[in-house]
Amino acid sequence: VVSRTACNSKGSMIVVSNRLPFVLKRNEKTGELERKASAGGLVTAVAPVVIRGKGIWVGWPGIHLDDPNEKIPESDPNDKTPTAGLLSSKIVAIHAEPKLFDSYYNGCCNGTFWPLFHSMPDRTTFIADHWRAYIKINEEFAEKTVYALKLLKQSEEKNCTSPPIVWVHDYHLMLAANWIRQRAEEDELKCKLAFFLHIPFPPWDIFRLLPWSDEVLQGILGCDMVGFHITDYCLNFIDCCQRNLGCRVDRKNLLVELGGRTICVRPLPIGVPFDRFVQLAHNAKTVLSTSQKVILGVDRLDYTKGLVHRLKAFERLLEKHPEHIEKVVLLQIAVPSRTDVKEYQDLKEEMDQLVGRINGRFTTPNWSPIRYIYGCVGQEELAAFYRDAAVALVTPLRDGMNLVAKEFVACQINNPPGVLILSPFAGAGEMMHEALICNPYELDDAAEVMHRALIMPEDERTVRMNHLRRREQVNDVDNWMKNFLKAMDSLEEEADDIGAT
Ligand code: ADP
Ligand code: G6P
Repeated sequence: VVSRTACNSKGSMIVVSNRLPFVLKRNEKTGELERKASAGGLVTAVAPVVIRGKGIWVGWPGIHLDDPNEKIPESDPNDKTPTAGLLSSKIVAIHAEPKLFDSYYNGCCNGTFWPLFHSMPDRTTFIADHWRAYIKINEEFAEKTVYALKLLKQSEEKNCTSPPIVWVHDYHLMLAANWIRQRAEEDELKCKLAFFLHIPFPPWDIFRLLPWSDEVLQGILGCDMVGFHITDYCLNFIDCCQRNLGCRVDRKNLLVELGGRTICVRPLPIGVPFDRFVQLAHNAKTVLSTSQKVILGVDRLDYTKGLVHRLKAFERLLEKHPEHIEKVVLLQIAVPSRTDVKEYQDLKEEMDQLVGRINGRFTTPNWSPIRYIYGCVGQEELAAFYRDAAVALVTPLRDGMNLVAKEFVACQINNPPGVLILSPFAGAGEMMHEALICNPYELDDAAEVMHRALIMPEDERTVRMNHLRRREQVNDVDNWMKNFLKAMDSLEEEADDIGAT
């Protein structure tokens, strides 16, 4: 049976996420597959634990292969990223028929769950075929995870005492845990199951719009521990479990009971690799050759990031405070994202037009107000932008956490430092109190906040930034990982009894 015996953090870990920590690309000249590493915070934190603990990563390689048995290549010998040590024997890749995968990824994950969980029901589609694809692909992930558990069992029987942790990530895989539990039970494979949601969990009034809401909750509750970035999302989830499924719940201790099992719900706010960003900021060459103050935005091109509101608020700043004309530029870097989804294609159009209109309106012979990069920039260049910007604009309409705010703060090594403007609708807004908080929907106010940031005295900037940096340094991504492992270790005591509802 799936065991609840005390697991300590020395056990192995199987990470299950939609994407592997790298994508595979086919080299056009040689025809060989090559790895392209990803550099996100999750990968930085989790990959070393998987490598050290001889774990396995289950995920999609980012390419549809004609031959699913084609061998995954080892990493490039010059690869310095955290995934370099992840041998291909420690990777279990998901392969799916392209149309089915499209309905799952573009249809259900990014057409249904992404907008709904960001409380944007008007952008959400509910299509039964997409949901069926979601079920099938989640089953495939569950199958592959059980296969990974068997591989671990074979390799570890003699020297490993604690059962492996299976850690399922994000909204792509909300059904997988329950099947992993059932199949592991059938095959007498021991494990501890955890799920972490990297996006918000919405309030019941929004969640109940989902025709398949009960199934999603039951899927997640297949785990022993469920993590969210902040307490609000934990409470939303608990509320939904109680109201949809009639579960007994304990809001004080964040517990949910289902089918005789007790599931722990935990706020685990993710951090960034703080010291790595500091190092990058120290080493990075200057890339911003401008005498003007730079207001910086760095985002995936996603409608949740509030980019259209941001540009309009910047336009309002130039209208209301013409003293900033020729003195300030807005540098917006937007990474192409989910380009097969219509909402994202429409946003790209809207951004192109808006940038053109605002630049057309305000440009002088020597200056344009907006510089817009539609593309990805390297880590070092990114650190230089963060370091040299006077203001960072992190103004999502809704965001699970937002790592850009934290990366910016880490890179603020100049004296005097810049100013962070942050939306209260990002999870990061819950702890980064010393940022200037700005409601992105209120354009006049957002323009005033930008003005305030631009004229803020040096000593106030320094005090605010010092507080922000200290907190992010302590609560970095390694600390997140430690807190997760600690929460898994203490499952036994927590789950003993459920108190008052
Ligand atoms: P999300 O997970 O919704 O994309 P986050 O702000 O939490 O939002 O994380 C985004 C990550 O992507 C950050 O680590 C950031 O450095 C990276 N990123 C965002 N935009 C760019 C860009 N234009 N070039 C390179 N990296 C980017
Ligand atoms: C968010 C999600 C991640 C996802 C990332 C990029 O951060 O929480 O799970 O990987 O966006 O999106 P993509 O669709 O390109 O994987």
